[in-house]
Amino acid sequence: MEQILFKHVEGSRLTDISNYLAIGGYESAKKALTSMTPDQVIEEVKKSGVRGRGGAGFPAGMKWSFVPKDFKGPRYLCCNADESEPGTFKDREIIEKNPHLLIEGMIIASYAINSELSYIYIRGEFAKGAAILESAVAQARQHGMLGEGLFGTNYRLDIIVHRGAGAYVCGEETGLIESIEGKRGNPRVRPPFPAVVGVFKKPTVVNNVETLASVPSIIKKGSQWYASIGFPPKNTGTKLYGISGHVKKPGVYELPMSTSLREIIYNYAGGIRDDKKLKGVIPGGSSTPVLLPEEIDVKMDFDSLPQIGSMLGSGAVIVMDESTCMVKQSLILADFYADESCGQCTPCREGTVWMKKILDRLEHGEGRQGDIELLERVSNNIMGNTLCPLGDAAAMMMLGFLKKFKQEFHTHVSAKKCPLSKE
Ligand SMILES: Cc1cc2nc3c(=O)[nH]c(=O)nc-3n(C[C@H](O)[C@H](O)[C@H](O)COP(=O)(O)O)c2cc1C
Ligand code: SF4
Repeated sequence: MEQILFKHVEGSRLTDISNYLAIGGYESAKKALTSMTPDQVIEEVKKSGVRGRGGAGFPAGMKWSFVPKDFKGPRYLCCNADESEPGTFKDREIIEKNPHLLIEGMIIASYAINSELSYIYIRGEFAKGAAILESAVAQARQHGMLGEGLFGTNYRLDIIVHRGAGAYVCGEETGLIESIEGKRGNPRVRPPFPAVVGVFKKPTVVNNVETLASVPSIIKKGSQWYASIGFPPKNTGTKLYGISGHVKKPGVYELPMSTSLREIIYNYAGGIRDDKKLKGVIPGGSSTPVLLPEEIDVKMDFDSLPQIGSMLGSGAVIVMDESTCMVKQSLILADFYADESCGQCTPCREGTVWMKKILDRLEHGEGRQGDIELLERVSNNIMGNTLCPLGDAAAMMMLGFLKKFKQEFHTHVSAKKCPLSKE
């Protein structure tokens, strides 16, 4: 399979614009701006079938087409480079190794929605990535890829690299928008949706790094070519699968969308560490419900995982071997969600802390009769009752562990200790 996002990445030092130009970089942006109308660009991206790689899988071309064409005044593109979901580290690879591909994708997307100022919202902790992006944006400006009259057209564009302060909720698109405006990143009530009321109340598109970096190849080789990769018609193109946990070769692998989970774990990541037994897999970042070993023949895409009760999310696979305590694992994640809740909604603010307290006592041998039912009730009361999907994420994680490993939770209560604890 031809790589799209990682092509030439090894050994070409693509952070330097001259190396990127030498492999045909910025030719897609030139092609879009000089030979296509914004509507034609949107149509091509729609036909490619590319779906957002940030988690929800919304078709990118359709999202761009929601920006009102007759709106008088500025509109914005925001690249979501917050990447804070536990287990997820794929966008960082693009940012650090192929930043001009992202900038080129942003030029094309900005042109399609007629944005003259676009933002890269990057997670605070990504100091190295932010420096690389700052430098790449400066190089692009020096070479006339950003600024006035791009490629001899009337179109102008600039990109601002905006560093966040490190909060998971700022990756949620409306939290991100608030943060860019200089406010605390509290998610907003929707509707209105960002395509109509976004940054500074202007129409705004928020797209993931991987989504935007996929665009130059669609323009260069055409939507048909892109749509032939993966599992058409609804899961097209390549996907970055990040794999971590108890595998021999953790890392980020660019593979055709819909590659099976078994193949990712055993062919690419080398199988389970020390050849131990596989116990469970979180398939798409911490919020996606855990799978059992007998479920790993699933295609890793937006439609196959929901059929077995999970989700593709960010495509971040977390592998757990037989030595893993699932109560402890869910406690670590509940702790994360409780910490990261912005506190606006009672079910999320109170529920995640409650979840954490129950799990903490289960793990430390102080579990009570009824605790498991209580965990289920708390999770079900969060689900669907919050302003943004962070609450749902915490509840889905918890319900997934309870569904697949309930006996282990009960054993913690009856044995009055963690059966896997070495203490
Ligand atoms: C709590 C939370 C955190 C999120 N973090 C990210 C993130 O770090 N990066 C990202 O692209 N999307 C993240 N998302 C999804 C975004 O809200 C949004 O759907 C995405 O950026 C849209 O881009 P796409 O259409 O290209 O996928 C997060 C969502 C939630 C609820
Ligand atoms: S669900 Fe949680 S993180 Fe999202 S707005 Fe409500 S309190 Fe904040």
